Amino acid sequence: MSHKILIIGACGQIGSELTYKLRNLYGKDNVVASDIGYNNLEVVNSGIFEIVDAQDYASVLTCVEKHKIDTIYLMAAMLSATGEKYPMKAWHLNMDSLFHVLNLAKAKYVKKVFWPSSIAVFGPTTPKENTPQHTVMEPSTVYGITKQVGERWCEYYFEKYGVDVRSIRYPGIISWKTLPGGGTTDYAVEIYHKAITDGTYESFLSENTELPMMFMDDAIDATLQLMDAPAENITIRSSYNLGAMSFTPKEIAQTIEKHIPGFNITYNPDYRQNIADSWPKSIDDSCARNDWGWRHRFDLDKMSAEMILQLQKKYASEKK
Ligand code: SER
Repeated sequence: MSHKILIIGACGQIGSELTYKLRNLYGKDNVVASDIGYNNLEVVNSGIFEIVDAQDYASVLTCVEKHKIDTIYLMAAMLSATGEKYPMKAWHLNMDSLFHVLNLAKAKYVKKVFWPSSIAVFGPTTPKENTPQHTVMEPSTVYGITKQVGERWCEYYFEKYGVDVRSIRYPGIISWKTLPGGGTTDYAVEIYHKAITDGTYESFLSENTELPMMFMDDAIDATLQLMDAPAENITIRSSYNLGAMSFTPKEIAQTIEKHIPGFNITYNPDYRQNIADSWPKSIDDSCARNDWGWRHRFDLDKMSAEMILQLQKKYASEKK
């Protein structure tokens, strides 16, 4: 089946890698990358790129009509840490953009929508170990509130209007191509950069703060698997729990030390500690595994080896 795909928020951490992967799979001419600005030149220069303001329905619609888009990946959002600084901005960006895309699907401009949710939908009253798909959800961050409300709307649009919207509750995503921005799990990316450039890292989370995490390659595979799954296999139209590994700052530092002897970590928790403390430690993702065959490939050791290899190459080539 031929696809015409639009990625909104294509310059970001996950959006950029989705863009590269989708262009490989479906061809450059069939994948339109878009963002609010020219914020990632590699993305901008690697194929069709449009400026799209996700908060402006007309802006999204114009792009969808121009390129005859049938599938949208809505990756624009304000994440947990930045959201606490700008609560109303986070609320408006995260909700307006979702409504625009859901309404485009309801009006049959597009056939399929991917929208990411997050472990941030859970809160301090949620069971922390092996957090079930269906459980208490009382998020305490603005970001988490937008994701939880968004999930309810996704399910609503599916039930009432037949909108084919699919979603994953991503854990912290770790990658080397594009830096994350404004999240609480960002430490687990920064630590690799600092290990290579400085040999030392000051963590903004305390040493035993355990959070669910995933390597980017697994996150992209999961996203495409979910989007390719037959509609009848998808039993959850809010958002799927998705897991791969869980670790603490201390544990990730230990795996880095195996590759970079003498690597040193210190701890100086800030306001993000409270956010992390409100989230699960590990995730039960059996629904994703049963419904559409989700399997992760990267554990902490395999991810660390890959992160360090790729970042060492990147920093070496930048020096030349
Ligand atoms: N990585 C996100 C954050 O830290 C969680 O979805 O905000």
